[in-house]
Amino acid sequence: MPVAVSPSILLGDFGRLEAELAWLNASAADYVHCDVMDGVFVPNISFGMPVLEAIQRRAQKPLDVHLMIVQPERYLERFKELGAHILTVHHEACTHLHRTLQAIRALGMRPGIALNPHTPVHLLSDILPEADLVCLMSVNPGFGGQAFIPHTVQKVAELAALRARLGCATLIEVDGGVGPKNAAALVAAGADVLVAGSSVFKAADPAAAVVELKALGARPA
Ligand code: DX5
Ligand code: ZN
Repeated sequence: MPVAVSPSILLGDFGRLEAELAWLNASAADYVHCDVMDGVFVPNISFGMPVLEAIQRRAQKPLDVHLMIVQPERYLERFKELGAHILTVHHEACTHLHRTLQAIRALGMRPGIALNPHTPVHLLSDILPEADLVCLMSVNPGFGGQAFIPHTVQKVAELAALRARLGCATLIEVDGGVGPKNAAALVAAGADVLVAGSSVFKAADPAAAVVELKALGARPA
């Protein structure tokens, strides 16, 4: 399976949202990554329901929605209505993570778990089979454009080993500071989905940057 790329619209120009989605629709991107921040779980507020609704109306790629909010269980149905295909909640934000993942699946979405850089992969050993995706944060969440934390490559390898041991097919996503410098190492360690904000949206040719990331992540057949 070639690596998937999920460009983070957070780094796009919201004054030109329609144009950003038009090039994404025509590109090799696999998802549109949507970062929802509440100013409580993370020290930043990004966008919420009305903007997601506008994205949903125009996006032809599945929405990979990353909730950086406390008590995400309060809004699961609303995110389903807003077109989330993957709905990722933070391990650190969910007291009853198992219940929340099951509720996401029951609503017809693919449940994801995000881990902050300080949260060890081994905490997933009892919950991994309930998740379709694990998002390893390779920056402290809250802002685009931060430097990649190199230790994440080791976490990807640990998660790939845990996944193999448990025999589940959970996708491994990496989010934060991902670009041409680290894509190949991440994919070699086991990453399946690369979230890319700055490295795509700040590139001279964003669509070409997506193609380049996919090529760097190409696995031998
Ligand atoms: C960080 C977000 C990321 C981020 C990606 O809190 O979850 O998705 O916007 O942007 P870059 O690739 O610039 O780190
Ligand atoms: Zn994200």
